[in-house]
Amino acid sequence: MFIMETERLTLRQMTEDDEDNLMQIFSDRVAMQYYTSTKTREQAKNWIQWNARNYEEHGVGLWICEWKDTGEFVGQCGIVPQLVDEQPEMEIGYLFVRAYWGRGLATEAALAAKQHGFTAMGRNRLISMIYKPNLPSIQVAKRIGMSLEKETRINNRETFIFSVHAKND
Ligand SMILES: CC(C)(COP(=O)(O)OP(=O)(O)OC[C@H]1O[C@@H](n2cnc3c(N)ncnc32)[C@H](O)[C@@H]1OP(=O)(O)O)[C@@H](O)C(=O)NCCC(=O)NCCS
Repeated sequence: MFIMETERLTLRQMTEDDEDNLMQIFSDRVAMQYYTSTKTREQAKNWIQWNARNYEEHGVGLWICEWKDTGEFVGQCGIVPQLVDEQPEMEIGYLFVRAYWGRGLATEAALAAKQHGFTAMGRNRLISMIYKPNLPSIQVAKRIGMSLEKETRINNRETFIFSVHAKND
């Protein structure tokens, strides 16, 4: 299902047919260096099911990002429910294929997700949970207007919580 488009990208819902697309990111040790490990095909299937549940229950999830012109898969970006220090939050998440880094695509998609969160979803606040050494991710958060709110431990790892509020946007 089509969700929205940006200057260069189309965002649509993830389906079971996206397993190969996702594996371009999940099997890449460099792309997954700030996660606990790379992901298997089984984990990619679970990821797709997790997103399907989020679409159903929350109306949002990670969406597939494709080049508008060619339909080529470049990454995933969207809004996912999370628990931070036992508080429910909505997180902007982004993971892109390494060949497409350094072109501003993650920032472009994340800005669109932020607008969606504030307008279509009517949220006042969105966060990003970022493992401290993940500087490229921190840069994306800052470029979409987020600022560092606090540090916490998530899955036993030192994690930055970045946030942005609609009223400050
Ligand atoms: C996090 C991640 C998406 C960031 O990717 P990225 O390519 O650095 O981010 P962007 O797409 O916003 O691109 C920004 C870069 O493109 C450059 N750029 C080139 N053309 C641009 C344009 N038209 N507009 C904006 N920036 C542009 C920017 O200068 C910037 O370069 P710099 O990093 O040298 O300063 C990527 O590292 C990734 O997928 N990592 C693996 C998954 C992950 O860790 N996700 C985050 C979990 S918290």
